[in-house]
Amino acid sequence: HRAQIQAILAASPLVPVITIQDPAQALPLCEALVAGGIRVLEITLRTEHGLKAIEQVRQNLPDAWVGAGTVCTPAQYRDVVSAGAQFVISPGVTEALLELGAQAPVPLLPGVATVSELMMGYALGYREFKFFPAEVAGGTAALKAMAGPFPDVAFCPTGGIGPANAGDYLALANVRAVGGSWLTPADAVAAGDWQKIRELARSSLVALAR
Ligand code: 3PG
Repeated sequence: HRAQIQAILAASPLVPVITIQDPAQALPLCEALVAGGIRVLEITLRTEHGLKAIEQVRQNLPDAWVGAGTVCTPAQYRDVVSAGAQFVISPGVTEALLELGAQAPVPLLPGVATVSELMMGYALGYREFKFFPAEVAGGTAALKAMAGPFPDVAFCPTGGIGPANAGDYLALANVRAVGGSWLTPADAVAAGDWQKIRELARSSLVALAR
């Protein structure tokens, strides 16, 4: 599990958090992101279209890692695995999710906002976490502080991250990638402006290259 999560976080410094409002847009949107150089996609369950989108994108974009986001329950975990998700991201932790993720065929990147939540996951063997909601949970200062007691833990922060601060997070030794919704601006998605999405992905990757 760890090796797989590490490979996914190493595959792309940027993880777009994708919420599908129109099911017809799922594939062209994800194609545009991949064309712009993004290799890891987090498709959330925030709308009723999420599950189907995961299935469709997984079948059609073999060059991308396709994961599920906003997974909050074991039932949702099983659903996204059946749909073909290659990794699972939760906004927070429950015992049930952590236990399922520790033995499921598809790995979990559990979301934590505090040291105590991190310790719950750590005790079960997790060493990679999503840090959410990053900006309000302490931002880069919190992550720097956590590197003291947990030098072997790495994070993918999300929540309030954008072009202005992504680089600050990626500069930290315990940050592997950053995620967020800024790579899929609602107006460009609604307009079907895939060229704009592709260019935003490309220019963001260039700006953050390290
Ligand atoms: C997430 O689930 O990772 C966040 O909702 C993304 O946060 P953002 O919309 O502030 O980027």
